Amino acid sequence: MSGKTSFDFSTLSEREKYKLLIGAVVPRPIALVTTVDTEGRANAAPFSFFNCLSAEPAILALGVENHRNLGLKDTARNIRSTGVFTVNIVSDAILEAMNVCAVPFGPGIDELQEAGLTAVAGAKIACPRIAESPASFECRQHVTLEIGASRQIILGEVLAAHISATIVNDRFHVDPYGLDAIGRMGGHGYARTRDYFDLPTMTVSEWEDDKRSAAAGRRKSA
Ligand SMILES: Cc1cc2nc3c(=O)[nH]c(=O)nc-3n(C[C@H](O)[C@H](O)[C@H](O)COP(=O)(O)O)c2cc1C
Repeated sequence: MSGKTSFDFSTLSEREKYKLLIGAVVPRPIALVTTVDTEGRANAAPFSFFNCLSAEPAILALGVENHRNLGLKDTARNIRSTGVFTVNIVSDAILEAMNVCAVPFGPGIDELQEAGLTAVAGAKIACPRIAESPASFECRQHVTLEIGASRQIILGEVLAAHISATIVNDRFHVDPYGLDAIGRMGGHGYARTRDYFDLPTMTVSEWEDDKRSAAAGRRKSA
């Protein structure tokens, strides 16, 4: 193993920590989050500080950074005032539209319209989902953690999911090729998820068998 370059996080600037984290914690899934403001106007923005943290209760988490002047992004403000949001998974087909939704438009601009995406009314919450996304999760704010002056982690409980019928079966398996999700890498990088393979977790006895056959293989080739 070659040497490691180590970093003491207590000595790093915010930007340096950010660059190490987003460069090495990859690929991150991308949530294209739809919300509405108090006047019911739709908003959409991508977040890759995003993941699924629990299945029961079903919890999705978003890490939202404030603007430089510490003002809330539209997504955070809308969730604070309405208590709901929808996570739309970003597939390769809507990658460019997702990037349009990241443009720093002012409040009240409907990014879905700008990006040519179709809003569909929510089933459980008064917040639209995106028709073109292969999987959408309607969430009710569970708790928001104010982890610093400029950041919050928003946990949402999933109330409903809408998955393209062609990619989910009656055993609740979602076809990863059909989903075709995009991952976020460091900088402005992205990755596709088409290099997919299965690797089931072994039982202890399967692991023992595996070790025995590897040892037998070594004896044979010696
Ligand atoms: C792929 C991608 C991932 C992003 N992830 C985050 C994130 O995790 N947290 C964040 O605060 N901003 C993130 N951004 C930036 C926001 O999308 C951007 O600030 C957006 O304009 C916020 O919109 P809003 O004010 O409508 O909420 C990301 C942008 C892109 C393109």
